[in-house]
Amino acid sequence: MPGFSTRAIRAASKAPAAPQVPINVPIYQTSTFEVGSAQELAELLEFARPGHSYSRYSNPTHQALEEALAELEGAEACHITASGMAAVHGVVLSTVRSGEQLIVPRAVYGGMVGLANAVLDRSGITAVAVDTTNPESVADAIGDQTRLIWLETISNPTTAMADIAAIVEIAHRRGVVVAVDNTFASPYLCNPLALGADLVVHSTTKYIGGHSDITGGAILGSAARVAAARKIVINAGGNAAPLEAFLALRGLKTLALRMERHSSSALAVAEALQAAPGVERVRHPAMSTHPQHALAQRTLRRGMAGGMLALELAGGRQAGERFLERLRVGVHATSLGSAETLCSHPASSSHRQLSDAELALGGLTSGMVRVSIGLEDPEDLIADLVAAAAPTGS
Ligand SMILES: Cc1ncc(COP(=O)(O)O)c(C=O)c1O
Repeated sequence: MPGFSTRAIRAASKAPAAPQVPINVPIYQTSTFEVGSAQELAELLEFARPGHSYSRYSNPTHQALEEALAELEGAEACHITASGMAAVHGVVLSTVRSGEQLIVPRAVYGGMVGLANAVLDRSGITAVAVDTTNPESVADAIGDQTRLIWLETISNPTTAMADIAAIVEIAHRRGVVVAVDNTFASPYLCNPLALGADLVVHSTTKYIGGHSDITGGAILGSAARVAAARKIVINAGGNAAPLEAFLALRGLKTLALRMERHSSSALAVAEALQAAPGVERVRHPAMSTHPQHALAQRTLRRGMAGGMLALELAGGRQAGERFLERLRVGVHATSLGSAETLCSHPASSSHRQLSDAELALGGLTSGMVRVSIGLEDPEDLIADLVAAAAPTGS
């Protein structure tokens, strides 16, 4: 008779057969899987047979999320990652080599600037910032060494939009790959692959998770492109985690409902703020005053534009800081896409990597406040944000 510990370890490792299919995908909280032979393990590690070997490579809960996201983005394949940035890193390194170049929007999530400055430059990869709201500027910037054009469906934080289909046409004529960060739109509002993009990236931390309780990312595209990016992610250790994948799956079930509410509340709040004292300008793609409003109507589901607003207050940085201190319903926190309304100051948080001159080139000002409209009652949000924006003494 084996000893107690031997029996305990064996007994506690037996996963029961579950004849009835569970309504929710189980969390396969295991780092490794028992195999029958060395040959089987070797094939699993090369993705040459179905199944799982080690959770840095794959895991059934990850697979469930990958299949769900692939279906919702209209992609052949998906690989999920530890964070949005792990997904961005995987896509860039799988398409651009040392000595080559990628084009990024001037108004881009600051994490991309951080990646370019802290990681890519060490690999000899150059990022060139271009005004991607103008397809001709993109065409002019493509050189012999350009391998990748990076776009955001709706830019963080300015809400500027690029014409994905037009840029894809230009890029493909020159043999350049187009990847789109679809985090702000989510797969419910836009499917960039259907517009011709080669790869899509999500930070599932945001709308897909939807509750500010996970960190994750996803890469979507053709099987070959996703496999190339997966090779980078696996080898660099940017793998997802089963609990995060489970929570992202749960988030997907209510994504459409949440995006509709985020979108309608954001438009209502944007319009109220635009007319409020102390506010210079509000940007949200569903507003008729937005520079890419017609593009938003064409490319986003029923013209809904999600929950992100860029708010410029009269009084610059000081007014921005006062706005954040005055919030009672909204929360001063970085991140976005959550049930809570999250407000932040990009110049000192998500875009702190940018100098004032770089901020200005991207259409940002140091006083701009980014608002991620949550799921609270819209009238409470309007009252809170209008009061927070009011000039002192009013
Ligand atoms: C548009 C966009 N892409 C990517 C990321 C990076 O995602 P993560 O924080 O999950 O790495 C963020 C994070 O704020 C983002 O806003």
